[in-house]
Amino acid sequence: MTHARRIVLVAALCLAALAAQPAEAAGPTLRSLADAHGLKIGSALAANHLSADATYASIAGAQFNSVTPENEMKWGVVEPNRGQFNWSGADQIVNFAQSHSQRIRGHNLVWHSQLPGWVNSLPLSQVQGVMQQHIATEVGRYRGRVAVWDVVNEPFNEDGSLRSDVFTRAMGSSYIATALRAARTADPNAKLFLNDFNIEAVNPKSTAMLNLVRSLQQQGVPIDGVGFESHFILGQIPSSLQQNIARFAALGLTVEITELDVRMTLPTSSTKLSQQANDYGTVVRACRAVARCTAITIWEYTDKYSWVPSTFSGQGAADPYDQNLQPKPAYTTLQQTL
Ligand code: XIL
Repeated sequence: MTHARRIVLVAALCLAALAAQPAEAAGPTLRSLADAHGLKIGSALAANHLSADATYASIAGAQFNSVTPENEMKWGVVEPNRGQFNWSGADQIVNFAQSHSQRIRGHNLVWHSQLPGWVNSLPLSQVQGVMQQHIATEVGRYRGRVAVWDVVNEPFNEDGSLRSDVFTRAMGSSYIATALRAARTADPNAKLFLNDFNIEAVNPKSTAMLNLVRSLQQQGVPIDGVGFESHFILGQIPSSLQQNIARFAALGLTVEITELDVRMTLPTSSTKLSQQANDYGTVVRACRAVARCTAITIWEYTDKYSWVPSTFSGQGAADPYDQNLQPKPAYTTLQQTL
């Protein structure tokens, strides 16, 4: 082959490789915009997709400065049998985040769901010790590496009463203080959060969370922040979102938007996608308006791997990147509002 032909061939191969990659989103990355004013912009990520999908991993590393393992740190994954720990997925995500200079949100330590059967069938007298041991082991392993923990996830019913589960059956409402204290002991520098859904508006459930946090503070229990999951429906961002963030901030707490997505009835349309862009913008503006709202995490940044279609029948397209890992109008609005 002549030299000239070889050059033409190499050029053609390069062009083909470029064409095979989805277009990079134009303009500044979300993380560069958020960094400029000390904000975290995150995504939930799944270890299996990071291994299998290089484009997914590359966008995740480029666009976000915070990462939440979508499932890999949950009790059922980490300790499927008593005292038998599996850290492979959690370690993979922690390594990914560290190699991309991303903060890690640990999610989560104590939750009624994705809880292994053996915990649910313990004699009630053993639940407290097992819970403390689980927290000590998991938080201890990632001490200094996981910056923030969702210590208790989804503790409330919609009416603001405490959800009944194996933890309340064993310890009553005091399980929350016990869990927070165990986490503080295991990593004194980690920020400790309670996290729940449908607490984004001023309503009975968010008021119950506010009252719980106030009473924990009065008892000297370590609590740094509250996570608003923020699994929203198209066109239904609560009008009291900013006011509600502000009333938690007024207690001296940090607020994070921890699991943002905005789902719609499928199929999508350009009207729906532009409404969704507005909705993402509304959430970012509400958070940015309150100094103590310091992070926004999207619950999987791409429709390709979203939990929504398998959870809410007929709904989907909830994320700022589409099924083909292409940015949607919501992505552009994130760039404009972050
Ligand atoms: C979801 C994951 O996205 C799914 O992959 C899994 O099957 C179920 O859990 N509230 C939470 C998250 O706190 O942990 C949930 O994540 C979504 C609702």
